Amino acid sequence: MQEIKYASSHAYTSTAVALFLLLLLLISPSKTKAAESVNNISRPGCPESCGGVPIPYPFGFGPNPNCFMPGFEVNCSNNGTSSTPYLGETIVLNISLSSGQTRVNMPVSKQCYNSTNNSVDYIEWGSDVLTSSPYMFNPEKNKFVVLGGGAIGYLKFTNYHYQYNGGCISGGDSLESLINANGSCTGIGCCQTSIPNGTYIIDVSFDHNFSNFTIGPCNYAMLTDGDEFTFDTKYITTEQLSGQHMPALFDWAIANTKCAAAQTNSSSFACVSENSVCVDLSSGLGYICNCSMGYKGNPYLKKGCQGPLCLSL
Ligand SMILES: *[C@@H]1O[C@H](CO)[C@@H](O)[C@H](O)[C@H]1NC(C)=O
Ligand SMILES: *[C@@H]1O[C@H](CO)[C@@H](O)[C@H](O)[C@H]1NC(C)=O
Ligand SMILES: *[C@@H]1O[C@H](CO)[C@@H](O)[C@H](O)[C@H]1NC(C)=O
Ligand SMILES: *[C@@H]1O[C@H](CO)[C@@H](O)[C@H](O)[C@H]1NC(C)=O
Ligand SMILES: *[C@@H]1O[C@H](CO)[C@@H](O)[C@H](O)[C@H]1NC(C)=O
Ligand SMILES: *[C@@H]1O[C@H](CO)[C@@H](O)[C@H](O)[C@H]1NC(C)=O
Ligand SMILES: *[C@@H]1O[C@H](CO)[C@@H](O)[C@H](O)[C@H]1NC(C)=O
Ligand SMILES: *[C@@H]1O[C@H](CO)[C@@H](O)[C@H](O)[C@H]1NC(C)=O
Ligand SMILES: *[C@@H]1O[C@H](CO)[C@@H](O)[C@H](O)[C@H]1NC(C)=O
Ligand SMILES: *[C@@H]1O[C@H](CO)[C@@H](O)[C@H](O)[C@H]1NC(C)=O
Ligand SMILES: *[C@@H]1O[C@H](CO)[C@@H](O)[C@H](O)[C@H]1NC(C)=O
Ligand SMILES: *[C@@H]1O[C@H](CO)[C@@H](O)[C@H](O)[C@H]1NC(C)=O
Repeated sequence: MQEIKYASSHAYTSTAVALFLLLLLLISPSKTKAAESVNNISRPGCPESCGGVPIPYPFGFGPNPNCFMPGFEVNCSNNGTSSTPYLGETIVLNISLSSGQTRVNMPVSKQCYNSTNNSVDYIEWGSDVLTSSPYMFNPEKNKFVVLGGGAIGYLKFTNYHYQYNGGCISGGDSLESLINANGSCTGIGCCQTSIPNGTYIIDVSFDHNFSNFTIGPCNYAMLTDGDEFTFDTKYITTEQLSGQHMPALFDWAIANTKCAAAQTNSSSFACVSENSVCVDLSSGLGYICNCSMGYKGNPYLKKGCQGPLCLSL
């Protein structure tokens, strides 16, 4: 009503007003619909976000175990001033239901030369938080990256079948050797390697018998999303990466079964929304749920997938 008064006071014809309103409805369905139905992402009575990060079911937290599926409990940790969502020891940055991926922040490992006592100090980080959970590190995007003018970084992988070491050598012996290195990770100051399919535990370490600090005070190693990482020579000439985290990508699944098998048990099948579909993951991890084409929302909640407004009018 408000809009009509406003519009007619500007002498629009009623046809134009109607067209305008129709257009508004079509282009901003979520805004116009917000008053009637809130598209909640978590179960009734459960928190919807932690520290500004939306936490959609099956992820969740709180004292009520109905707020999350087993394996999907987020630790919403409050340090007195703000809250941060954790999955084990990794910080959750973003959860995508439609891709079955969670963006996390992983600590950077380092080896640093300490001239005071002429020794090399290490902070080496590993993660076994995923053991009991339906997660793996995304094998397409994540890269193991080693930075420095003389470093061998190792990554011990564990996947469902075996455990082994991978890694790479980052060379370069002077600032001059870095002249063409900025922006590309090709072995001078920066090396990178892929991780195998199915990796759910990682353990980062350096070769303690091989290190050189002629370029910078520290060498670094990390697992990170290669799409988001660009080597900047500043990373090894300064200590700006010390104590930092870098973004990496988890793949997750509801259960280690395929849709066809999961669907036979209606009490455990996770795709409970109308207008949702079950998707088998090519990673072999299991299945996830998705809203059907044209629908949006949370397929893990009853009525979670909402249609476009023009269909529900
Ligand atoms: C849905 O979310 C709104 C706002 O976040 C909240 O006030 C309401 O209680 C939620 N509804 C349910 C059923 O949890
Ligand atoms: C939650 O995360 C914080 C910060 O990492 C940690 O200190 C705490 O022990 C965790 N709590 C649980 C229940 O895992
Ligand atoms: C709490 O965490 C926030 C975000 O990580 C940080 O900016 C703040 O300094 C922390 N506060 C305390 C008291 O540790
Ligand atoms: C988080 O994920 C949602 C859903 O995939 C996406 O729309 C949004 O842009 C992401 N936000 C950030 C900060 O990455
Ligand atoms: C270097 O070693 C000295 C002596 O053990 C110590 O006091 C100092 O904190 C160390 N420096 C760094 C950057 O770790
Ligand atoms: C040098 O100092 C560091 C930091 O205090 C310490 O961790 C390391 O053990 C010391 N190394 C030697 C050889 O004393
Ligand atoms: C480090 O690199 C410099 C420059 O190439 C070389 O002179 C030195 O021997 C190297 N040190 C070690 C421990 O490899
Ligand atoms: C490092 O050198 C020591 C002594 O030579 C040797 O015992 C150890 O196995 C070496 N470690 C690695 C990782 O090569
Ligand atoms: C490396 O390249 C990036 C992107 O072009 C630029 O922002 C950065 O300043 C460069 N670093 C150095 C040390 O020149
Ligand atoms: C179906 O799922 C429920 C809940 O997870 C479980 O208790 C039950 O054993 C399952 N039934 C079959 C036939 O697998
Ligand atoms: C990953 O491994 C699983 C299980 O071993 C297999 O089914 C799947 O095809 C593999 N995916 C890729 C992309 O290699
Ligand atoms: C889920 O649906 C969206 C939109 O229909 C699509 O972009 C996305 O690729 C689907 N996800 C999977 C895992 O199939």
